Amino acid sequence: MHYSYQNLELYLVPLRTDNYSYVIHDRAKNKTLVIDPSETEALITFLNQHKFGLDLIIDTHHHNDHTEGNIGLQKTFDSAIVCSDYDHEKNRIPGKVRQTLRDGDTLAFSDYNFQVYSTPGHTLGHICLLLEGANWLFCGDTLFALGCGRLFEGDPTTMWDSFKKLRALPDDSLVFCGHEYTLANARFAEEIMPQIPGLHAYVESQKKRQATEGRTVPSRLADEKTFNPFFLADSPIMSRLGSNPEEIFGAIRKQKDNFQ
Ligand SMILES: [Fe+2]
Repeated sequence: MHYSYQNLELYLVPLRTDNYSYVIHDRAKNKTLVIDPSETEALITFLNQHKFGLDLIIDTHHHNDHTEGNIGLQKTFDSAIVCSDYDHEKNRIPGKVRQTLRDGDTLAFSDYNFQVYSTPGHTLGHICLLLEGANWLFCGDTLFALGCGRLFEGDPTTMWDSFKKLRALPDDSLVFCGHEYTLANARFAEEIMPQIPGLHAYVESQKKRQATEGRTVPSRLADEKTFNPFFLADSPIMSRLGSNPEEIFGAIRKQKDNFQ
């Protein structure tokens, strides 16, 4: 269950019911980071099994299921913690934060760089990170495969602006999101836009992945741009739902909130 780019190995670590934590290890420099540590013990076990230390912890946002491992991992490995400046100012990131990030920043890790995007909506301090070259996109609870995070702090206009930012990223980006929600999202996508060519076949392919691999993450950003209803708020396909993309985005989110 891992991906490679140059000297980097990326491991998906499924935790809790449906969370993913992501571990990236640089073989050449023996440096390791984790994105969104959902738990402490399971990640310590994983890191020990691989004989990795842990240099860096990145939190996409402050929710407990993305940060619970911060304190235990920092204590065990003396890891640096980085998060958004907003979440740090609000004092809602557990552990000692070493560096804060804002939109447009670059975060260096070993010989590689992450581009940082502020993507408020799910929470106001949420950030997404794109690993340059590999085009691995870590989007926490902003973008899910075929879905988006609930609007706990932002409003539809805020989240739509965040989605437009993500839509501008390269098509070949791989979407490493915070939860495995794809098949539930797929049912909603087929319900709200049954007329999209190729959607049904795409959903079937994801069901097959789930059955054979036990997961559907990552997806390709190109497929999200085509089939994720929330990226289509300004498409004629959704125009029946409102008079502007912001209103339409809000209407899609509301329907999803009530979808059984
Ligand atoms: Fe969250």
